[in-house]
Parts: sequence; C-alpha cells; structure tokens
Amino acid sequence: MVIMSLIIYILGSQIFLIPVFKKTYNYKITKENYSINGTITFKKSWTNCNLIEEQIITANDELIYNELSQDLIKDGFERKKDKYIKVTKKKGSCKKYEDQYKKHNYLNNVVFELKGDSNKEILVGDNYVEEYVVAKVNGKESKAVSINSNLNKDKVGTYVVSYCLTISNDYKQRLYRKIKVIDDEKPNIILNGDGEITLEYGEEYKEPGFSASDNYDGDITSKVMVKNTINTKKSGTYKITYKVSDSSGNYVATKRMVHVKEKTDNVIKESPKIEVKEGITYVNGIIIVNKDYSLPKNYDPKVNKIALEALKNMQADAEALGLDLSLISGYRSYDKQEKLHDEYVKKDGKEVANTYSALPGHSEHQTGLAFDIGSVERSFADTSEAKWIEENAHLYGFIVRYPKGKSDITGYIYEPWHVRYLGIDIATDVKNSGLTLEEYLGLK
Ligand code: DAL
Ligand code: ZN
Repeated sequence: MVIMSLIIYILGSQIFLIPVFKKTYNYKITKENYSINGTITFKKSWTNCNLIEEQIITANDELIYNELSQDLIKDGFERKKDKYIKVTKKKGSCKKYEDQYKKHNYLNNVVFELKGDSNKEILVGDNYVEEYVVAKVNGKESKAVSINSNLNKDKVGTYVVSYCLTISNDYKQRLYRKIKVIDDEKPNIILNGDGEITLEYGEEYKEPGFSASDNYDGDITSKVMVKNTINTKKSGTYKITYKVSDSSGNYVATKRMVHVKEKTDNVIKESPKIEVKEGITYVNGIIIVNKDYSLPKNYDPKVNKIALEALKNMQADAEALGLDLSLISGYRSYDKQEKLHDEYVKKDGKEVANTYSALPGHSEHQTGLAFDIGSVERSFADTSEAKWIEENAHLYGFIVRYPKGKSDITGYIYEPWHVRYLGIDIATDVKNSGLTLEEYLGLK
C-alpha cells in the first residue's frame, strides 16, 4: 500500500513530515512450541527511511513458555498477558531501508529445526545423547547456534534444552527440547524370617521385621504399609500384606502367610496360683467365689465402684439400641444372701434351690463385682437382651458367669442375666477362650 502526502504539520517549534511512502509486510513463523507474528512497516519521508518492526510471540507449552519468557525478556521483549511483544524502531538512510527490507526476505530463508524428538524420556542416571539441530540461513549451514540446558540426569524431573540461532544482532530464533528424567524401577521389600509362619492357638504373633529400598529413594522402610488381621484365638490362615510406593509412584506388594493351629487340649496348662488373704481366695490375682471357695461372713465391701461404672456404660449403650438391662440385684451382704437362700429352700426345697441360689458366703454378689440385669426369669434366655449380653458384655469388662451347658462346672443353671466384672482384658480373654472362669483359671 502506498500513501502519498504533501501536508505539512506544525507542532510546537518542530516540523514533521508525513511519510510520502508507506509499506507494510506481515510474516508468521511457526515453531513447535511457539509462533512469531511479525509486522515490518517502512515509512519513507522526504529525507529519511523509517522502519518499525513489531514482533508478537505466543507460546503453547507451560514449561517452554517459562524458558522462552526468560530468553525473550533478555532480548528486550515485553510481556503483555500471554504474549511477548517487541517493537523496534529505526531511522536511517534509504540504503538502510533497503537492508531491512532484505532482512525480511532473509528471515523467510531460515531453516531452523530440531533433529530428533522435541520430547524425550531418559531413565534416571542414564546419559542424554544430544541430537542437535539443523540450522541453515539462505541455504548455508550456520554455526551460530548456542545450546543451554538445565538437565540433571540424576534427578527425576522435566528439563529443557534450548537452542538459539543468532541471525543478526537484533534477530534470533529459538528451539526447545523437553527432557523427562524418569524412574520406572519398582522398590524392593525384603521380609526377615520366613514367608510362612505357624503359630500355636493363642500364641502371640511377633513380626520378624522387614526392610524396603528403592533405586532412587534409597531406604523407604518407614513408608511400608503393613496390614495384619491375625487373631491367634481363631485358628486359620492369615495373610499379612506389606506395600510400598517410591516417590515416582512405582509400587510393590508382598505377603507373609501365618497359620494359626487348631486349639488342642494337650496344651500344658500352668497350674493356678491360689492365694488366700483374710479368708478371701484369689486365683492368679482374681477373686473367686463359687461352691468350693467362700467369703468370710464379715466381708462387706459394698458395690465395686469401677464395676458399677462399667455396668452403667453397658446399660446406656444397650438402651441406645432399645434394650432394657435394668439392674435387678447387685451387691448382697452375707445376711441378705442367707435370707434369700432360705426363702428359695422353703419354696423349692434344698436340692433345687442349690442349683440357682448360692449358700451364704458362696454368692458372687457378696464381692460387689456381680450384677443380675434385665430379668431373672428363665425366659430371659430367649430375649434380644440376653443375646446382646452374651456377645458384648466383655467389651465392658463382664463375663456371663454361669454359661449355658456348663452347670457341671459352675454348679449353677444357665444364668444369662448374671454378669461378673473382670476388666476388659481378662473378660475378653475368658470370652474368646469359650471357657468358664473356673476352667480359665485352671481350677477345673
Ligand atoms: N444366683 C447366683 C448363683 C447367686 O445366688 O449368687
Ligand atoms: Zn446373680
């Protein structure tokens, strides 16, 4: 486009000449990661040739964009949102105008391309082999290419190698290659001890240990996740799993099998430690009252506060489920038991009364650790309350003291309502053993 003008403007004391000749050229250079849009405008006045070149660079890759950004700012570009813009203004002779015009053609005769892929992956520690570029200006190979790189082949990450071709003092082209350093090697878990272990029923499982290492992260033992569901009070085969991932997400899992043997009767029981203090019998530290062991007449401890607290917790949890575990009878003194027992003898005769009522001095209620809850009717055995007690009492520290089918050992009929406080650990152990307290303590 040609504009001719002869108009003279007067501004202040200066006199400017409107161009008599104006020509604009657009060019676009597309590179793999960015593109350059350029406009060169030549304005010819009566005395001078003026050149205005505007270059707009846009990038399309986050990582490269950052690299490019640093390079362009060094080259005098200004950032405007996602574009980089540089306006070069030059004033000179008509000879200069001709030179700049040639430059425009000259840019179209640049071949600058990567050899090999623009995205490469190498394994951590491996060498990177540089494939270089093709750089030709006006059909002639150019040596004016500089290479820059932040690559660390020993560290997982993504790096950039940049190539810069200098075409003229104020004109450069760039290329970028992304190098991804990866670790695809799985970590390793080593189990100490055997991969398969056999335990006696009830024998404690002791973890023989393990270690984990990774080619890149080194010792990652602390990251190993262990899943162990062994219940040595239940025979069967259990799987312990060990899992670990390295920092690159490479994952490995291994397992150890543990067999818990069936419960056998040949397990040698330790003989119980029986102590009598002030007429009260303790077996392995647990107070015992039954048809064989009694309490002194004057033993009058009242209700045990810890046991009562546990009972209240149990009653509250049951109540939340709609179950009524109201207290029927708790602490009973020697005298109270005597009166009660006499009544039952009168009613049912001595022999029958002795199957459900203890002689004075022989009732567990005198310890302050026993409670009758729900109902003392035999039909209580068929209620949801009785079932719940059976399944959950140990969680609060209680056992059902006179279980079903164990009358020959306990001396009493099945009393689903009568619970005895032992503390959670012992109660749980007694429950899991499936034994009466007498058997559990090795008295029978
Ligand atoms: N009902 C139990 C056995 C007692 O009288 O203590
Ligand atoms: Zn009772």
